Amino acid sequence: MGLRTYIREHFLEDIRPYKPASLTQPAQLLDAVSAWKGLEMIIGDIITRFGIGREKCIEFGVEFGYSAVVFSNFFERVTGVDTFEGDIHTNNKQEHFQQTRERLKPYGNIHLVKSDYRDWIVRDNQRYNFAHVDIVHNYKETYECGLWAARHSECVVFHDTESFPEVRKAVKDIARATGQQLFNYPHHYGLGILVDTKSIAKRK
Ligand SMILES: C[S@@+](CC[C@H](N)C(=O)[O-])C[C@H]1O[C@@H](n2cnc3c(N)ncnc32)[C@H](O)[C@@H]1O
Repeated sequence: MGLRTYIREHFLEDIRPYKPASLTQPAQLLDAVSAWKGLEMIIGDIITRFGIGREKCIEFGVEFGYSAVVFSNFFERVTGVDTFEGDIHTNNKQEHFQQTRERLKPYGNIHLVKSDYRDWIVRDNQRYNFAHVDIVHNYKETYECGLWAARHSECVVFHDTESFPEVRKAVKDIARATGQQLFNYPHHYGLGILVDTKSIAKRK
């Protein structure tokens, strides 16, 4: 077996698996279509395990709002950035910003912004406690958005590390570029978890 084949075949096994100490269902969940379902059970565990702050969360890739509502249980303020136009990997490609804003109105701590992540990251220099990257599942976009998120937050989670090899590769490369700790939760299409222990320690 050549080296390339070996690396490809062991692609799914070379990140430290994340093993939650407990699974807890957040109080508020949205009844919406989402491949993210199930992952809400480990968000509290991640926050507690690494001592992540609870103030600010940013999400890139909101779609109908399932994961944004999950995060609204844990953080004082959640900013959700999306074109709300879908992408090559989503089933829905109809514009739905106003509809989604209406649906998420009951969750007063979620602020939605209709924007491409590229326009957002050049003008936002804030720090966040937590970030979620779940945009188009290509290497270039995931790497670019994810690197910005890793440099601006204590912890970044990436959806679809098991179902999209390009996402997984981007996450591994960001971990290498930043020196942050990387874990992977292999269920519900996979969640990559990148933790900046230095910035967590600095805040405390
Ligand atoms: C897989 S969906 C997100 C699913 C969502 N997190 C959930 O809980 O179900 C991906 C979303 O990323 C958005 N998206 C794709 N490329 C983007 C970009 N360049 N900038 C902002 N949003 C983008 C799409 O519009 C789509 O709504």
